[in-house]
Formats: sequence, C-alpha cells, structure tokens
Amino acid sequence: MTIDTKERYGKITRSFHWIMALLIGWQLLKFGDRIAEGEHWIGETLVPWHISIGVLLFVLIALRIIWALTQRHNRPVQDPKTAILVKGGHFLLYAAMLLMPLTGAMVMLGNGYGLTAFGVQLAAKGDEIPWVAAVGSLHSPLAWLLLIMVVGHIGMALLHHFIKRDGVMQRMV
Ligand code: HEM
Ligand code: HEM
Repeated sequence: MTIDTKERYGKITRSFHWIMALLIGWQLLKFGDRIAEGEHWIGETLVPWHISIGVLLFVLIALRIIWALTQRHNRPVQDPKTAILVKGGHFLLYAAMLLMPLTGAMVMLGNGYGLTAFGVQLAAKGDEIPWVAAVGSLHSPLAWLLLIMVVGHIGMALLHHFIKRDGVMQRMV
C-alpha cells in the first residue's frame, strides 16, 4: 500500500522513515569531530557532507510533515494506555528534525559563512548577524537531545520487537 492504514504504515511513510533515519544517523557522526579533532576516516569522508545532507534533510522533513498531515486519520492505532506518550514522543522527534537544519543554517548565516549545499551556493558570505548566531548556538544542545531521543526510540522499537512481540516493528518495516 502507498498510503498508511490503521494496520500498517504505507510505502511513502516507510521510505521517509528509513531514508531519513539513515541520513540523521550520518549527521550525528558530526559528534566524531570531538574525537582527535575529526582526523579519522569518518571525520574525513562522511562528516564533510554535513551541510549538504542537512539541507537535504530540511527539504525531506518539510515534505514529510505535509505527508504526515494528509495521513493523520489513517495511521496505525496506538495502544490507548500509552498513546499520549507515543504521540508526544513522535511529535518531539518531528520538532527536532525540523529545528536541527534550521539552527544549523543559522550557525552558518549568523556567523557570515554563507551556505553551500552539493556545490550550489544558497547564500553568499556576508556580515555577521549576532542574534541569528545566538539562536544557531542551540544546534549543539539540540543535537544531544535528538541523540537521546533517537536512542530511546530505537530502544522502544527493539523492546516491542524482542520482548513484547506485538507487531509494532512490522508496521514500519
Ligand atoms: C538533521 C540535521 C542535522 C543534524 C542531526 C545535525 C547534527 C549535528 C551534530 C551532532 C553536531 C556536532 C555538535 C557537537 O559536537 O556539539 C553538529 C554541528 C554542526 N552543524 Fe549540524 N546537524 C544537522 C544539520 C545541519 C545543517 C543543515 C547545517 C548547516 C546548514 C549544520 C551545521 C553545523 C555546524 C556549522 C556545526 C558545527 C558548529 C556547532 O557545533 O554549533 N548542521 N550538527
Ligand atoms: C534503527 C533505527 C530506528 C528504528 C528501529 C525505528 C523504528 C520505528 C518503528 C517500529 C516505528 C513505528 C512505531 C509505532 O507506530 O508506534 C517508528 C516510527 C517513527 N519513527 Fe522510527 N525508528 C528508527 C529510527 C528513527 C529515527 C532516527 C527517527 C528520527 C529522528 C525516527 C522517527 C520516527 C517517527 C517520527 C515515527 C512516527 C511515524 C512517522 O511519522 O513517520 N525513527 N520507528
């Protein structure tokens, strides 16, 4: 099925989920810059794509939000006992996925670095804009929060799959 149903997420939702999970995992490798100042294989081959992939993720999250709104009435039903927690958790993941590229772009623009993605210049180098840089400085603390949320989310998915064995994982694979 292309669209979502009450039993299972459809192809489009599953594609968004797994492509973006992969790209977000890639983005989190930026923490690797803290190890030997990024002078290792990951830091030299995968991390230099950070800004390009971040801009791509911004486009993907915008499309994913629009898609999720069109599907909101036919998504898998959550266990009523924990539905509020699950929906709240997924909402926070969406908020973090949107705020990461926004604050990342603010680091670049606020410090006057300009913005180039996949070789295409989106904004030229310019003057520093202190308030934009100040909001952009939330990028790093937000990245830590996102990392904690993603670890919790994967933990819950594995708990459903291996301990509860209730089919929650199957509706996303
Ligand atoms: C979902 C998207 C993104 C994720 C998950 C992400 C994640 C991260 C992480 C984990 C760090 C390292 C923070 C630290 O070591 O404390 C980082 C730093 C950085 N990111 Fe991103 N990022 C994303 C998007 C972007 C975008 C779109 C840009 C620019 C347009 C960007 C620009 C930067 C810059 C300049 C730094 C280094 C400065 C700093 O730590 O504040 N990021 N990001
Ligand atoms: C190995 C990694 C991951 C696994 C095993 C996994 C597993 C799952 C499963 C089983 C669901 C369905 C849950 C339900 O219906 O109750 C789900 C939904 C969801 N996941 Fe993940 N996930 C992973 C990574 C991620 C990442 C990195 C993000 C974003 C930062 C994310 C964001 C979401 C969101 C927002 C939903 C709600 C459905 C939607 O709107 O797309 N997931 N995930």
